[in-house]
Amino acid sequence: MNRIVLASAPLNHDSSDAFDQPTLSGVAKMGHVALPGVIDTSHGTILYLEDVTVSFDGFRALNKLTLSIDVGELRCVIGPNGAGKTTMMDVITGKTEPDSGKVFLGQTLNLTRMNEPAIARAGIGRKFQKPTVFEQHPVWENLELAMKADKGWFATLRARLDREAQAKIEETLEVIRLESDARRLAGELSHGQKQRLEIGMLLMQRPALLLLDEPVAGMTDDETMELAALLNRLRGSCSMMVVEHDMEFVAALAGATGRVTVMAEGTVLADGTLEDVKREEAVIESYLGR
Ligand SMILES: Nc1ncnc2c1ncn2[C@@H]1O[C@H](COP(=O)(O)OP(=O)(O)O)[C@@H](O)[C@H]1O
Ligand SMILES: [Mg+2]
Repeated sequence: MNRIVLASAPLNHDSSDAFDQPTLSGVAKMGHVALPGVIDTSHGTILYLEDVTVSFDGFRALNKLTLSIDVGELRCVIGPNGAGKTTMMDVITGKTEPDSGKVFLGQTLNLTRMNEPAIARAGIGRKFQKPTVFEQHPVWENLELAMKADKGWFATLRARLDREAQAKIEETLEVIRLESDARRLAGELSHGQKQRLEIGMLLMQRPALLLLDEPVAGMTDDETMELAALLNRLRGSCSMMVVEHDMEFVAALAGATGRVTVMAEGTVLADGTLEDVKREEAVIESYLGR
């Protein structure tokens, strides 16, 4: 089974959940009351972490981690193994409960009070290291299944599904550059193409924030640069946080002005442009090594 689709769309979700179907249009029209489930980005921030601490048997995997991501930003996070990068994503997605600290999506959605499926429905998509696609199904059907998993949207679209769903699938195929592979079985794709398909499946659920944990691991140089191009095309249409070690990939995403966060020992060691952080003594010592 597919981890991503399952996480974002539990079949037996509880309809009393206040965060169900966050974007139903009737709710959004009610005015600017802080409504449960609606992402309030009026202050320009999509994700906000403050003093987040996570301990495993007394060891602090995250130690008062504070960071925030702007709406539409593509943030790269680097740092040595064991820095707490994956643990941070586990906290954001509700997989790990922090001992203390704040985690907010927009101004009002307190993620520490939501479970994993509710957080996924609220608009956070997560890409794991290993691609998880439906190997026995064609590329096209993978995207269709991913869309149907987004129940709220699917329900509102049902009447017009054929045309609109088709257009959305075609648009996504173009973004992930798999137009000519639409009828092939996902299992026949190369590793890099599977990774792009999985991102496409996440996009079908219209995430507000995409989290990618070491997405280029195991990719060829060409596949790596193709993924960088894909994420650069997505820039602005959703906010993204990308954890990666591959510095060429990070450079391709961050450019000269993008913000890069360096984590070490569960907290932020440095923050700034790639050139800025590379010059910092603490970063050179703990990560880049020289
Ligand atoms: N479930 C867990 N139980 C115990 N220790 C863990 C668990 N998850 C992570 N850790 C520890 O927390 C630290 C941070 O790990 P991780 O977040 O995976 O770092 P990174 O992704 O930056 O390499 C590591 O020392 C790791 O061994
Ligand atoms: Mg990790």
